[in-house]
Amino acid sequence: MRRPFIAGNWKMNLDRASIGAFCAALRDNPAPSGVRVGVFPPSVYLAEVVAALAATDVVVGAQTCHSERSGAFTGEIAASMVKDVGASHVILGHSERRHVFGESDGDVRLRMTAALAAGLDVILCVGETIAQREAGATAQVVLGQLDAGLAGLEPATVTDRVTVAYEPVWAIGTGHTATPDQAQDVHAQIRARVAHGYGSDVADKLIIQYGGSVKPANVSELMACPDVDGALVGGASLDPNSFDALLRFES
Ligand code: PGA
Repeated sequence: MRRPFIAGNWKMNLDRASIGAFCAALRDNPAPSGVRVGVFPPSVYLAEVVAALAATDVVVGAQTCHSERSGAFTGEIAASMVKDVGASHVILGHSERRHVFGESDGDVRLRMTAALAAGLDVILCVGETIAQREAGATAQVVLGQLDAGLAGLEPATVTDRVTVAYEPVWAIGTGHTATPDQAQDVHAQIRARVAHGYGSDVADKLIIQYGGSVKPANVSELMACPDVDGALVGGASLDPNSFDALLRFES
């Protein structure tokens, strides 16, 4: 059985007061016990969120980290720093990192290595643009990003420390959610690819989140897909009530 994993990617949103209130709501109103919950605040608030949620099971992570351990990389944060403030996870390869900040598959791979070496677990994001989908290149793009991100990892690392998030770029922040059939189709291909590379034991345990305009109104139908094991949520994760509703999807 794969434990559902619902994570909020707060991106560059919220402030100290609203994050404090959000953490209080998470403490006061825990998710159903079968559901794993994660929040990914802006990095300046990481330490505060770790402290505020210390008595809960909520996973706290960063939205990215750099591949180098230290040095002259103005504005960047190292994986060891994320770990040092008590966070356990990092999102890597998010479409905004790839498309707004120009991260290549090679960059994502280096960041994967650094994050895992520092002791962080990773949510590896993959997803095609609308042009790629319309050109029939969805599988090629998504599986290529997956291969690049996982290259060289031990099977146990993939099983225990990596979550994959399928996030079609055309669905992120647009209100155009993938249909359950579209999500299931790509999730099944991701799982098959991991089975091919790492064996069916690893693939069967892999948590694959869907991301892209997930809301309380559509989370249940997405979560009902056999290969959708969770959600990585942007906009609908910014309000505590909406996030709470996501955690209580109908199963
Ligand atoms: P969205 O973002 O839910 O606002 O579409 C998802 C994401 O970018 O992870």
